[in-house]
Amino acid sequence: MYLGIDLGTSGVKITAIDKNGEITASSSREYPVHYSNNGWSDQNPSDWIKGITDSMKELSEKININDIKGIGISGQMHGLVILGEDKEVLYPVILWNDQRTVEESEFLNNEIGMDKLTEYTSNISFTGFTASKLLWLKKNEPEVFSKIRHIMLPKDYIGYILTGKFYTDVSDASGTLFFDVKNRKWSDEMIKILEIKKEYLPEIFESYEIAGELKQEIMDELGITVKIPVAAGGGDNACGAIGAGVVEEDKILVSLGTSGVVFIPQKKWSLPEKSSMHTFCDSSGKYHFMGVILSAASCLKWWIEDIHDGNYAKMLDEAEQSPVGSNNLFFLPYLTGERTPHSDPYARGSFIGLTAAHTRGDMTRAVMEGIVFALYDSYNLADGLNPDTIRIIGGGAKSELSRKILTDVFNIKSEVLAIQEGPSYGAALLALFGTENEKNMDEKLKEIVKITDIIEPDLENHKEYQKRYEVYTRLYKALKNEFF
Ligand code: XUL
Repeated sequence: MYLGIDLGTSGVKITAIDKNGEITASSSREYPVHYSNNGWSDQNPSDWIKGITDSMKELSEKININDIKGIGISGQMHGLVILGEDKEVLYPVILWNDQRTVEESEFLNNEIGMDKLTEYTSNISFTGFTASKLLWLKKNEPEVFSKIRHIMLPKDYIGYILTGKFYTDVSDASGTLFFDVKNRKWSDEMIKILEIKKEYLPEIFESYEIAGELKQEIMDELGITVKIPVAAGGGDNACGAIGAGVVEEDKILVSLGTSGVVFIPQKKWSLPEKSSMHTFCDSSGKYHFMGVILSAASCLKWWIEDIHDGNYAKMLDEAEQSPVGSNNLFFLPYLTGERTPHSDPYARGSFIGLTAAHTRGDMTRAVMEGIVFALYDSYNLADGLNPDTIRIIGGGAKSELSRKILTDVFNIKSEVLAIQEGPSYGAALLALFGTENEKNMDEKLKEIVKITDIIEPDLENHKEYQKRYEVYTRLYKALKNEFF
């Protein structure tokens, strides 16, 4: 049996699989994100540890703990975890959707320059990426900055707790902006610019490589008698792509989680036409482009749970009654600012076009269509793509209406995955492949990943959406100076 741990933004999920990739058990726990109105979002690693410990306890009642043969870890990307001399956590973890580093990110893009950043890292700076967080800390918390001895990403802190080793993987390291994506190694130039020491950075592995083994004291605590290898794992989207079998250029992955992601596999390293698309290493030894919106399923969660009473079934049913285009109602899903394509921390969510005749169903559907239009924005940033299939993961993938809207807007058939566990499943597969020393992951994934349904796009709906998408793209431009 192999375990995949996904350290998500809103909680942790642990998935256990057998050697054929079938799920045998799973468990999860939620933990808080601390948001504040000025765009800060952070987390406390002790909440992660408690979540994992509780989740593991629950799982151990469902499985035989001594059957575990390997562990893989996936996690929310970009967050800055810093430890001091005594391996103590020095500061709350500044997360991927935190917007406090506007000045620092602008400094990197404008003073160091996008060309140089792209040459060194294959990417430009966004507030969410890790590099600007280090600059912010240096300026605003110099004492804390001076105590830094270890710099890592969220899932790597869990890796450290489990194995006692400091390591990361190429997919997660890609989102730091101090990693040379093309050559799959830390960037010496960026290390100099950020004034950090290379020895503060973790050792780099491919996602499927075994990076360490479970610490003896944890084995004793859990009553485990045989050594357990731990695979390096990957960023949540890269692991999601493994779990969905999206590793070749004929398919793209869309993730509808707290963030929304369009993940586009690339066989070889190259740069996209537009720099607001990320170029990262994937978890199968190749590369991918990625566009990320900061609020996806979280917009629907806000609308249904926070603004209404949380009755998903009823509100999604109402949305089904609304026609394509939600009776000319639009929603901009920028509830926490936006990354791709606008890179605008000040972008805000909006309903546009409301009349007295609109129903709650129209508004729910407009939220769903707005999320998909924002993802379509990302997809349109890369030229020359020719995927024939979309696979969807994340909480939003559960809604049939969401899947249908996505299929029609993109005009690409979508496949419904038999296993929709997402990143934790991908991390478990990486543990399986790493432990078994699997040489042909891509082929193996074709055997393991199963499809239960195919949704074909409706051309009439697509044409209708195209007209509305054109309006949608003008709305942000018209409003961007009015947000504050
Ligand atoms: C990716 C990104 C998010 C986080 C949280 O660039 O910022 O998808 O990984 O899931």
